[in-house]
Parts: sequence; structure tokens; C-alpha cells
Amino acid sequence: MTTTFTEPSESPALLLLGKRRDPLSERGVDCPGGLPEASDPDLVERARAAKAALGERVFILGHHYQRDEVIQFADVTGDSFKLARDAAARPEAEFIVFCGVHFMAESADILTSDDQTVVLPDMAAGCSMADMANINQVEDAWEQLAEAGIADRTVPVTYMNSTAAIKAFCGRNQGVVCTSSNAEVAMRWAYDQVGGVDGDGKVLFLPDQHLGRNTAVLQLGLALEDCVVYDPRKPYGGNTPEELERARVILWKGHCSVHGRFRKENVDAAREKVPGINVLVHPECTHEVVTGADYVGSTEFIIKTLDAAEPGSSWVIGTELNLVRRLANAHPDKDIHFLEDTVCFCSTMNRIDLPHLVWALESLVAGDVVNRIVVDEQTQTEARVALDRMLALPAKDASQD
Ligand code: 13P
Ligand code: SF4
Repeated sequence: MTTTFTEPSESPALLLLGKRRDPLSERGVDCPGGLPEASDPDLVERARAAKAALGERVFILGHHYQRDEVIQFADVTGDSFKLARDAAARPEAEFIVFCGVHFMAESADILTSDDQTVVLPDMAAGCSMADMANINQVEDAWEQLAEAGIADRTVPVTYMNSTAAIKAFCGRNQGVVCTSSNAEVAMRWAYDQVGGVDGDGKVLFLPDQHLGRNTAVLQLGLALEDCVVYDPRKPYGGNTPEELERARVILWKGHCSVHGRFRKENVDAAREKVPGINVLVHPECTHEVVTGADYVGSTEFIIKTLDAAEPGSSWVIGTELNLVRRLANAHPDKDIHFLEDTVCFCSTMNRIDLPHLVWALESLVAGDVVNRIVVDEQTQTEARVALDRMLALPAKDASQD
């Protein structure tokens, strides 16, 4: 029997990609000039030729979660902190092609000069975590904290995985940006602005509650009871003004849909299956998973830890699957497992594929800039304040995470 799908005629809530009903949710669908077929056997050669034709004019950045087919063309690879620094350190490149997600490309646009053009090969490469905090919700929350009488003792700290508008909010409210490589230093800096970690000042941590909680409790020594979760859909985020007054860390109710899938049972199952296995996870995982692990750190830390590991040692890794597979291939002398029993790619990171990269590069060769990421001037200026505060923080080597 053949089943055909018929689009419901009366369902305004259901948006089908490519129907042009909602330009925002459909960003990335149109590729003017035509997207090459994924089956084109010449894609690798086409990408190579376009990159060679652009020469020094183009600089390609690749986040560790990108597909192998894309990573092979990256001039540099890194975690979001390293890529932000790399973008800022390349003033001579006319085009920065960002193989990563939207918030990373926005940060690159903020950190590069007006003469430089940042391109995201597929506009649909967003981030579900970044989408969990929009600027209107954050402004409302700040007003609620003011009503509760604590905004003047609260420093906003936003994870890099947030929109430029939220970074700008942090810039104009004496806050800072952090990444998973420097969340501890950034949070300490934030508390120092309001009397230190042992005082009564507070941090509003956006948008990843897990990174915020894991850093506050495991690295700064605060208690779990010092943390409250702020749900933007509820008055006072679902807390009483007294609870907000007592809290030291106000955690935005956001999470990563990839790292949120790992469970403590996965850790227990891995230990049971391979006695002596080392459990290595990203701090976007839940507190339960992180406290059950042996090592915790950013993608850059995960890579360095595996590089330094003894041949023959066993590892189970809780982060995105493209990176874990690449690590397993790069270390055939080590026994490397993935901390989940189902496939766990980041679907938006995976949006950047070879056809989109070829399309973006060939368009640049032809003189057409496609998918340019532009952050407006006011947002840039304010967000840059928070990003520069982050870049000025004392550097901590990723191997010390
Ligand atoms: P890092 O690369 O900063 O470790 O972040 C991981 C991530 O989820 C990026 O989206
Ligand atoms: Fe966002 Fe998580 Fe994907 Fe990173 S891995 S881009 S935080 S959804």
C-alpha cells in the first residue's frame, strides 16, 4: 500500500519547510543560483577549486561539531572560544566563512571589521539552546529582578550560545560573555563586580542552566541550594521574590537538546560494560551526568584529553557525535565509545554540508555574497563590550578545565 502525505489545509500551526509561509523559520531554504546536488561526484574538487580561487581572501572556520566533509576545508578548527579569537585575529581576510551555527557567525561579525564579510553557508544552522532565550523575555526578566530589588546586585553572564541581542544586553548591564572553556573565570569576574563569590551578589546565567549550575557548584564551590531556575513564562521566573533574594545564581531555563540527551544511566551502563573506562563529558550535560563523570570540559578540552591519553585506555564521551567519531578515527590505539545508544548529532550543526559550502564559496568566486551575517551597529557596539570583557579575562589553558 502506498501512503501519500497530504498537507493539512487548515493548520496554521503546522509550518512545512519550503512553503514560504514563515520566512524566519524557513531561512536557509532558498539558495539563489542553485544548490549543487549532494550526489555530485565533483563536490570535493569544486570546493577545493573555489577555495584556491579565493586564496587569502577567504578564511574558513570550522567548529568541532561540523561534518568531516566540511571540516576538511577549514583553515582552523576549534571550540566557540577559539573560533571567536581566530576570527578576530584575521583582519586581512575579506570573507570569513563560518562552518558552525548562527550565534557563532554573529560573534564573528561583531569581532571583525566592517570591511570583512561573514558568511554562514546555511541560514538554517541555528541553535535550539540560543533560541530558548529571546531578548524580550530577558528584558522582562531583568525588570522582574528589579521589582524583586536585586537587579543592582546581579551581573548577567551569557554563554556564547546566545543571540547577539543578548550579548548586547550583557554589554549594557555590566555583564560578560563566556564559553565552556572560560565559564569559571567569567563567573568569578562577575561575582567580583558585586562583592565576590562569598558576598551576597548574584549572577543571572543565560541561557544554559546546566553550564551555569555545573560551573557554580563544581568550580566556584556554591551549593545546589544557591541556584534557582528562571522560567521566563512564569512571574518572577517561577520563584517568589524571597527565593530570588536568597539565590546566588539565577539560571535561565534553557538547555542543549543534544547534551540534554545523555543520562546518568548511560554513565552507569558504560562503567558496567567496560570496567575502568574513563567518562569524559561536556559541561552542557546535566549535573547528574557531570557529577557521574571523571572529566568535564569544552570540546577543546575533550580533544586535548584524548590526545594525552595512554594508548590502550578506554573512554566514553558525552558530546556531539561528529566529534566523537572523528576522535575514535584519530586514535585507533585507544578504545573510544559514545555515551548514548542512539545517534546524537546536532541537527543544526549538520545543516552545513558540502553542497552548501560549495554553493557559498562558488558564489563568492562569482562575486555574489550569499547568506551574509550582519549584526546592526548598535547591537554590535554593546555586544562587543561584553565580548571584549571575555577576551580580556585571564586565559586558562583548555587542558586545565
Ligand atoms: P564549545 O565548542 O564551546 O565546547 O561548545 C559546544 C557547543 O555546544 C557549541 O554549540
Ligand atoms: Fe546548540 Fe547544542 Fe547544537 Fe551546540 S550542540 S549548536 S548548544 S543545540
